[in-house]
Amino acid sequence: MRAVIFGASGLLGRRMVRAFGDMTVTGTGFSRTAGALVAVDATSADAIARLLGRERPDIVVNCVGERRPAVWAGEPDRARAGNVDAARLIAKGARRCGARLVHISSDYVFDGMAPPYQPDSLPNPLNAYGRWKLTAEHAVRAACPDAAILRLPVLYGPVRFAAETNLTEIAHQVAAGAPVQLDDVCVRYPTHADEAAEVCRRLAEVLVKGKHLGSVAHWSAEQGLTKYQMAHLIARRFDLPAGHLRAGEADAAAGDRPVDARLDCHDLLAALGPVRHRLFDIEFPAVVEPWLTPAAPVRGRRKDRA
Ligand SMILES: NC(=O)c1ccc[n+]([C@@H]2O[C@H](COP(=O)([O-])OP(=O)(O)OC[C@H]3O[C@@H](n4cnc5c(N)ncnc54)[C@H](OP(=O)(O)O)[C@@H]3O)[C@@H](O)[C@H]2O)c1
Repeated sequence: MRAVIFGASGLLGRRMVRAFGDMTVTGTGFSRTAGALVAVDATSADAIARLLGRERPDIVVNCVGERRPAVWAGEPDRARAGNVDAARLIAKGARRCGARLVHISSDYVFDGMAPPYQPDSLPNPLNAYGRWKLTAEHAVRAACPDAAILRLPVLYGPVRFAAETNLTEIAHQVAAGAPVQLDDVCVRYPTHADEAAEVCRRLAEVLVKGKHLGSVAHWSAEQGLTKYQMAHLIARRFDLPAGHLRAGEADAAAGDRPVDARLDCHDLLAALGPVRHRLFDIEFPAVVEPWLTPAAPVRGRRKDRA
């Protein structure tokens, strides 16, 4: 079996390549193409067609996205291209080469006012990122009607710079010791990128066997936490001072972040069978520990969505 993972240089894509490691897997990057990654501009239909024509995959996974708030605000054309145009072109390419497609989307398509959200709940994105993710879903469905759209909540996992995820950025703030206010209203469901990748792998298997699930699937960890609660968990686990941490409501007050966009996963669980949930309390220490030193690099090329 052959798989192509678009966006394999990113947080999720890197774990996806591992999860599909028993297949012949080709990963693409754009600005980061170290190792075996192939450089592909996903806003170029020709570049996508060339790659898919060469690799002839059974399954395509699209992890391309532009989730940096600085780009939504400052370079909307680029953010739209990375989120919407790339999604449409990859979906067209997958259909043309006869591969099944899993397209990664986000819980930010919901407004967070009435959780839990089912795959057929009415989306109502609050910010540009959520609107782009929703527009991308529509484009994918039109271009490749049998694609599976997998919506995920905020992810954590091994990172290359602290700001690559909310969790590692918060860990850095806890360790830095400077006064910091963290939102204590919006509830997130941090999900390990390896768990998301494993679910995607299982979903891909089901699709390749020719099964047709609903076009949208949800996956999420079960434990809900605010950023402030995550900070306290980190401080407690590593015996760090917590007096500089203040509970705030910045994300909620801004009005463009869902307060609670919990995704209901029962449909996908029924289709896949038992899936091992990775428990946040058990997983987070290994992920944050390397970032608890003030010397660790905070910013890399990419900045996490808020
Ligand atoms: N991270 C989260 O918390 C989260 C939560 C829910 C859903 N998602 C969704 O999951 C997907 C993956 O997210 P992520 O966190 O892994 O993102 P990420 O770390 O920012 O990685 C994004 C990937 O997209 C690639 N890319 C961006 N523009 C491209 C272009 N024009 N052509 C080709 N590749 C391009 C990047 O390549 P280079 O870096 O090499 O340029 C990178 O491989 C996205 O759809 C995102 O919206 C993420």
